[in-house]
Amino acid sequence: MHSPPVLAFLLIASSWNAAYGSSHFFQGKYRGSLKGLPASNHSTSYGAPGEQYFPQKLDHFNEANVTTWPQRFWVQDKFHKPKGPVFVMIGGEGPENPIWLTQGQWIGWAEKFGAICFILEHRFYGKSHPTPDLSVESLQFLSSEQALADLANFITNQTAARNLKDSKVVTFGGSYPGSLSAWFRSKYPHIVHAAISSSAPMVAVEDFADYAVVVKNSLNRSSPQCVQNVQAANDALQAALKNPDSAKKLQDLFQLCTPVSNENSKKDLENLVESLAGNFMEVVQYNRDNRAFEGAQATNITIDTLCDIMTHDSTDTALQRYARVNSLLLSATSQECLNFTYESFLEPLANTEWTDETSAGGRQWTYQTCTEFGFFQTSDSNNQPFAPMFPLKFFVDQCRDLFGLSEEVLKNGITETNTYYGGRDLKVDHIVFVNGDIDPWHALGITKRHGHNAPAVLIKGAAHCSDMYPSRDEDIPEVKLARVIIEFFLRKWIGWFAEA
Ligand SMILES: *[C@@H]1O[C@H](CO)[C@@H](O)[C@H](O)[C@H]1NC(C)=O
Ligand SMILES: *[C@@H]1O[C@H](CO)[C@@H](O)[C@H](O)[C@H]1NC(C)=O
Ligand SMILES: *[C@@H]1O[C@H](CO)[C@@H](O)[C@H](O)[C@H]1NC(C)=O
Ligand SMILES: *[C@@H]1O[C@H](CO)[C@@H](O)[C@H](O)[C@H]1NC(C)=O
Ligand SMILES: *[C@@H]1O[C@H](CO)[C@@H](O)[C@H](O)[C@H]1NC(C)=O
Ligand SMILES: *[C@@H]1O[C@H](CO)[C@@H](O)[C@H](O)[C@H]1NC(C)=O
Repeated sequence: MHSPPVLAFLLIASSWNAAYGSSHFFQGKYRGSLKGLPASNHSTSYGAPGEQYFPQKLDHFNEANVTTWPQRFWVQDKFHKPKGPVFVMIGGEGPENPIWLTQGQWIGWAEKFGAICFILEHRFYGKSHPTPDLSVESLQFLSSEQALADLANFITNQTAARNLKDSKVVTFGGSYPGSLSAWFRSKYPHIVHAAISSSAPMVAVEDFADYAVVVKNSLNRSSPQCVQNVQAANDALQAALKNPDSAKKLQDLFQLCTPVSNENSKKDLENLVESLAGNFMEVVQYNRDNRAFEGAQATNITIDTLCDIMTHDSTDTALQRYARVNSLLLSATSQECLNFTYESFLEPLANTEWTDETSAGGRQWTYQTCTEFGFFQTSDSNNQPFAPMFPLKFFVDQCRDLFGLSEEVLKNGITETNTYYGGRDLKVDHIVFVNGDIDPWHALGITKRHGHNAPAVLIKGAAHCSDMYPSRDEDIPEVKLARVIIEFFLRKWIGWFAEA
C-alpha cells in the first residue's frame, strides 16, 4: 500500500500536523446543563440499537474486591462483514448518545470497512453508575486509569464472546475520550490495533491560561476590532464592579437573576466575569461544527455572530455589545436570567445523589480535573482579552469547596498523570492525532508528526472535534481533507480486506 502523492505532500507541508475529538466537553469549568450539552433524544427515535449493560469490575486494581456494576454500552452490527474490524467509540465526561451508532464519520468508515461498532459509556457518567452515590468516598473509583481498564475488560470479553478474536480493534474518541483513545493504544497495544484521537489534550496542566489566548487569536481572525472591543468591554465591566452605582446597573444590562451589590462575595463577581467570558470561550470552541445532529442547541451562533455584535455600526458602548452577546446566548439556551452567584454555581455540583442532572457529569468531571488533569481555563495570561478576575485560585478553591481536596492533591495528581501517560512524549504508533487550530484545546494536543506511524493533522480553521461529526456540504475543505487523510491511515492499518 502506498500513499497517493497528494497526501504525502500534504503531510509534509507545514500546516499539516495531527490530533482528533468527541461528543461533549466541559473541560475546565462545568457550566451547567444548558450550554454545550447535547440534548439527547431516546435511541428509538433514531432507529439506533437499544442500550445494553455489561457487568464491569468496580476496582481493577484490587483483585480482592470482585464487586461489579452495570456499565452501559451499545452495539451496531448491521455493517459487520466477516473478518471486518471492531470499532469502539470511547465514552467521555457525559451521557453517551446512541445517535452516534447511525451517524458520524466513523459510521461512514464502518460501512466501508465492514466494522462492528461499540460505544462504551464512561464509568460515572450517563447511566453508568458504579456506586450508589457521588460522595467523595465513591468518587475514588473514578479515574482515567479505571476507565482504560474498563475498556480493556469490555473489549476482551466482547471480542471473545462474539468470536471476533482475530479482528483488528480501532478506538475512536474526541476531547477527553480522544486522550483515552491515545492512552489506550499506548497502554494496551495488545488489545487495540489502531486509534484515532481527536482534539485530545495530551498534557495535564494546572493553569491552562493558553486557552483564553487561543480564544483571542481565533476572535482576531474574524476581526481584530472584535478583540479590542471585548477588551474594552472587560475594562468597563471591571470598572463598573468597583463602583456601587454602576454595579447596580449591571443587573438589567446583563439580565442577572439578582442585583450586584455589596452583599456579593468576591467569588460571585469572579464567577460573573468568568461566565461572561465563557460565552465567547464556548462559541469559539464549537465554531461552525455539526453538533446540531445530536441535539446541541444554538449551533448557528458562531465567532462571526459574536464579532458582528461586538463591532457593527451603532452608538452602543463595548459593554452594551458585550451584554447583547450575553442576551443572545441566554435566549438561545432558554435561560431567563444569568444566575451568577458562586453558591448557585456550586449547588448543583455539590449534589451527591444520582439524578438526571448529576448523571450529566458536572460534579464528576470537576472531580477528575481536581485529581488528574487541572485544565483550568484561567484569566492568568497577559495576552488574553478578558478581565483578569478568574485566576487559578478561583478554580483550585472549587476543589476544596466541593471535595475537600487541597492544591497539593491537585499538583500531585497532575504530575502523576503526566508521569503515567508520558504527556507529549508518550510512545505510541498506529494513531492519528487530529486537532483544529481555532480550538483552544489544540494548545495541549499533539499537533506534530509523532513518529513513523503516528501522523498529526492540524486542521486550519477548524473547531473542537469537527472531523468526527457527520459530513455536510458546508464543511470547510480543510475538514473534508482531514477526513480523507484519516481514512487513508485507517485503510493502511486495518482496511485491506472488507471493502465493498
Ligand atoms: C469492594 O469495594 C466496595 C467499595 O469500597 C465495598 O463497598 C465492598 O464492600 C467491597 N467488597 C469486598 C468484597 O470487599
Ligand atoms: C463476558 O462477560 C459475561 C458477563 O460477565 C460472561 O457471562 C461471559 O462468560 C463473558 N464471556 C467471555 C467469553 O469471557
Ligand atoms: C490579529 O490579526 C491581524 C491580521 O488581521 C494580525 O496582523 C495581528 O498580528 C493579529 N493580532 C494578534 C494579537 O494575533
Ligand atoms: C428529538 O425528538 C424530537 C421529537 O421527536 C424532535 O422534534 C427533535 O428534532 C429531535 N432532536 C434531534 C436533535 O433530532
Ligand atoms: C439561529 O437559529 C434560530 C432558529 O432557527 C433563529 O431563530 C436564530 O435567529 C438564529 N440565530 C442566528 C444568530 O443566526
Ligand atoms: C439561582 O441559583 C440558586 C442556587 O442554585 C437557586 O436556588 C435559585 O433559585 C436560582 N435563581 C434563579 C432566579 O434561577
